[in-house]
Amino acid sequence: MTGLAQLYSGITGDIQAALRIFREELASDSSFLSDLCRHVEQFHGKHIRPALLLLSGQACGKLRTEHHVLAAVVEMVHISTLVHDDVLDEADIRRRAATVNRLWGNERAVLLGDYLISHAFHLCSSLDETFPSRVIGRACNAMCEGEMMQVANRDNMDLSEAEYLDIITRKTAALLGACSLLGARYAGAPERTVRRLHEFGVALGVAFQIADDVLDLTGDEAEAGKSLGRDVHKGKLTLPLIHYLRTEARRGDTMDGTDGRAAALALLRGVDPQRYRQIARLLADSNSLDYARDVAARYVCQAVAVLSELPPSEARDALAAMAEFVIARRQ
Ligand code: IPE
Ligand code: IPE
Ligand code: MG
Ligand code: MG
Repeated sequence: MTGLAQLYSGITGDIQAALRIFREELASDSSFLSDLCRHVEQFHGKHIRPALLLLSGQACGKLRTEHHVLAAVVEMVHISTLVHDDVLDEADIRRRAATVNRLWGNERAVLLGDYLISHAFHLCSSLDETFPSRVIGRACNAMCEGEMMQVANRDNMDLSEAEYLDIITRKTAALLGACSLLGARYAGAPERTVRRLHEFGVALGVAFQIADDVLDLTGDEAEAGKSLGRDVHKGKLTLPLIHYLRTEARRGDTMDGTDGRAAALALLRGVDPQRYRQIARLLADSNSLDYARDVAARYVCQAVAVLSELPPSEARDALAAMAEFVIARRQ
């Protein structure tokens, strides 16, 4: 996290202010809910979404109270999706701790996720304008669509790269785009800059999810602090595998007598939760992991190019560093 601490040095107090609002919003007189909320408040993640919102604000002008409220809102939306995602993925570890579903079961995890999203919109409605609720509502709609499309494509071994990119743009990049858009807009940026900052967040979000998907195959669980190998286990095809299956299908089994596609498909259809390690070895031996990393790097370049339209500032440099961080991270 040292890299991130340096990146966030200009917004440390603002992140603290957002987390205070976050805690106040979730305060409850039900001891049952308090236990669950304490759990999600206690284990902090990287705070990428609030940081993106705050840095986008700083890069375009001055931060206001609305930025702190919205930073709390986007983190709440994000945690709500993580709590639900861990139910869907049957994950045991999140943020170096046991998941809510692991500790309290699926029923409570689903309800806690609902409670968090409901509070996110409740908090958002404390602002005078309806604009942020509409932006965040649109991002949440996209996230649900992305997750639905992903479930509908479970075990679809023919998922194309374009379909994959569409899914991750909705499920992950939409919220990051909303963060940079809102940050810019509440700093009073002109319409064109708001639109460009939105593009920055979306491109960063696509790169972020591609890197996350590479990490799910190649990462170290202790370092990542979350369950890995879940994508293979849940029949989710991600970019390295899509590339591998596509190139192996083209190569056929005639070149060197081995059929990499058949080997990968057999592994994908297996049941051993650790089989993603064997798949990762297949992908490393071909250039499929590098291919996915290159695509992610291209999205980072696209994001960074947008920043040249902003005046030079520490916040602008931190946004550029954040874009590089999302593909270099190990957690
Ligand atoms: C994880 O997001 C969920 C994805 C969209 C891949 P983060 O990696 O930002 O999670 P935290 O907030 O740091 O735990
Ligand atoms: C989840 O994607 C994306 C969300 C929008 C919640 P993942 O399933 O890859 O996220 P992790 O790896 O569990 O954090
Ligand atoms: Mg998951
Ligand atoms: Mg993942």
